[in-house]
Amino acid sequence: MNAMINRQVIVDNLPAGLPEASNFRMENGEIPVCGEGQFLARCLYISVDPYMVGRLKVSSAAYTAGVEPGDVMQCYTVSEIIESKHADYKVGDKVYGSYNMQDYAIGDGSEVIVRVDTDLLPLEAWQGLMGMAGQTAYWGLETIGQPKEGETVLVSAAVGSVGSLVGQIAKARGARVVGITSSADKCKQALETFGYDAAITYRDTDGRAFTPTELTAKIKEACPDGIDVYFDNTGGDISEAAWPLYNLRARIIICGRIAVSHLKPGEPDIGLRDQGFMIASRIRKEGFLVFDHWHKAAEAVGPLAALVKEGKLNYQTDVMEGIENAPLAFERMLRGHNVGKQIVKVA
Ligand SMILES: NC(=O)c1ccc[n+]([C@@H]2O[C@H](COP(=O)([O-])OP(=O)(O)OC[C@H]3O[C@@H](n4cnc5c(N)ncnc54)[C@H](OP(=O)(O)O)[C@@H]3O)[C@@H](O)[C@H]2O)c1
Repeated sequence: MNAMINRQVIVDNLPAGLPEASNFRMENGEIPVCGEGQFLARCLYISVDPYMVGRLKVSSAAYTAGVEPGDVMQCYTVSEIIESKHADYKVGDKVYGSYNMQDYAIGDGSEVIVRVDTDLLPLEAWQGLMGMAGQTAYWGLETIGQPKEGETVLVSAAVGSVGSLVGQIAKARGARVVGITSSADKCKQALETFGYDAAITYRDTDGRAFTPTELTAKIKEACPDGIDVYFDNTGGDISEAAWPLYNLRARIIICGRIAVSHLKPGEPDIGLRDQGFMIASRIRKEGFLVFDHWHKAAEAVGPLAALVKEGKLNYQTDVMEGIENAPLAFERMLRGHNVGKQIVKVA
């Protein structure tokens, strides 16, 4: 890290489809000045997450303001406070919050999601497990999924950062967990590393995506007792394939739509063709946004750390080095090349 400059990842141009590294450029900015009631935070780790695609698009489905060319790219980081004029934060404290893709940022505490406690878990865990991924898995299951002993929980993007945690938390609650992912290798990882009871791919070995009808048959084989909870991380054909298999009063957590994130604003998404299944099985299908739960993020820290200590929660990070590689890490994660939470070590 260069102590004299503030390296920043700038949005160079907005993507037409899926974002790639060429949508960004590096610039050297000023190191911001810390005022009264503020602190200066130095970035240690950057998190790249699928929601950032939405920041680069203006669409009717967007739920927060986006970025424009010339802006510093938004993201969450684990940062260390190196100067403080804030009564509640001292030099050396570490925080997880929204400081964006740059070496240095000013905070006043309002952007802190959780305070990092490395006595509890190592630094890397605070970017994924205690950050967006873990909070999403925990609160999505806690508030909507509510899996019970013996129920079947289906998870898409099953070995990704959210999915791998969902599978393990649901398993710890006594559910039977089934994962959907892209390859035989990832299925093996789902079974061996993350304790899934069964895992299937959504495409064949030549890379051809199964049709929803073909996939329904595969899911049915892996879920002989039907589906009680579906943690939907992808949308698209995978979600459609699950429709005929829901049990009475199944719960669906609509968490992500990475399978259709290439759609341009205004392009038709899959519509409401699941209504017949929903009525027949009295299904509860609810959109989930982790931002609604940020204010109670600290409440999830204890239960998640306890699962790790009991050996029931295995978290993995996929670390790329260097802030200049953050756009590449983002591109890599969007193409499914990450294994575990994709983060970037900055300092
Ligand atoms: N609602 C919320 O508050 C919230 C918060 C966090 C995350 N999310 C959503 O949760 C999902 C997972 O996020 P994450 O951070 O844990 O990412 P991740 O799962 O670590 O990485 C993304 C994964 O998506 C899968 N994927 C990519 N393209 C796909 C496609 N066309 N069809 C099916 N799967 C595809 C890939 O896994 P495979 O190799 O298995 O295809 C890839 O590894 C995303 O949709 C994200 O937007 C929502």
